[in-house]
Amino acid sequence: MAGLKQRVSDLVYKVGDKVGDSFLSPPHSSFGQYVNRGPDDRRVVALTFDDGPSYGSTDRLLDALAEVDAVASFFCVGENVRANPELLRRAYDEGHLIGNHSIDHSRGAGLSLRDTQHIERGEDEIADVLGVRPTMYRPPWGWLTPWEARRLHSRGYTIVGWDVYTHDWQLPAPSTASIVDEVLEQTGPGSIICLHDAYPLKPAYEKTVTADVVRDVVPRLRDDGYEFVTVADLLGLPATRPLDDLAA
Ligand code: NI
Repeated sequence: MAGLKQRVSDLVYKVGDKVGDSFLSPPHSSFGQYVNRGPDDRRVVALTFDDGPSYGSTDRLLDALAEVDAVASFFCVGENVRANPELLRRAYDEGHLIGNHSIDHSRGAGLSLRDTQHIERGEDEIADVLGVRPTMYRPPWGWLTPWEARRLHSRGYTIVGWDVYTHDWQLPAPSTASIVDEVLEQTGPGSIICLHDAYPLKPAYEKTVTADVVRDVVPRLRDDGYEFVTVADLLGLPATRPLDDLAA
């Protein structure tokens, strides 16, 4: 019985996963609330990294970005920000954009009809460290309901999806070359590239593959004429809001 129950619940989860990914995730759906790319008239792209900041991964990635002299955008999980404020500070001071990726990466909170805490608490963790508020939000799991979109817009957020998706989050990690191929195959002018610097609720997390991808892919795209900017610069929008700007 336990075996059957488990199989049924696995199946329900799988079906829910498929339905959510089909209807709520970028780049094809989500009722048009996502910004999945910038203007396509210039060879400019934005690298984005989700789920940090974590030691063992975000610090490696910041080193790699400094080596190739590129700026990026980090969508941070509030719990990890609280654990590693100095890592967030470093990313910001080195010119990267800091976006909100919720307080704890819960899937249910964004689906809930009422919960706004996951947005506000994630934002407050970032604001406590940086003294400014983020303007960009990426929903955890990429799942966005119309009511969550309304909550985010009323708080002044741009909801950032992607048009270039990779599997650098998978365990065991795919090869650097396969992730580089995923990026190169999908990237075009104005692309927003989705990668992962860390793991949602792990303040320390050893991960080398994404930093290796950056070292490889940035020079190659540059040779192809691409320039790297933050999501805010790609979209021509402000990167932060003042601390006392509590739109809602
Ligand atoms: Ni995430």
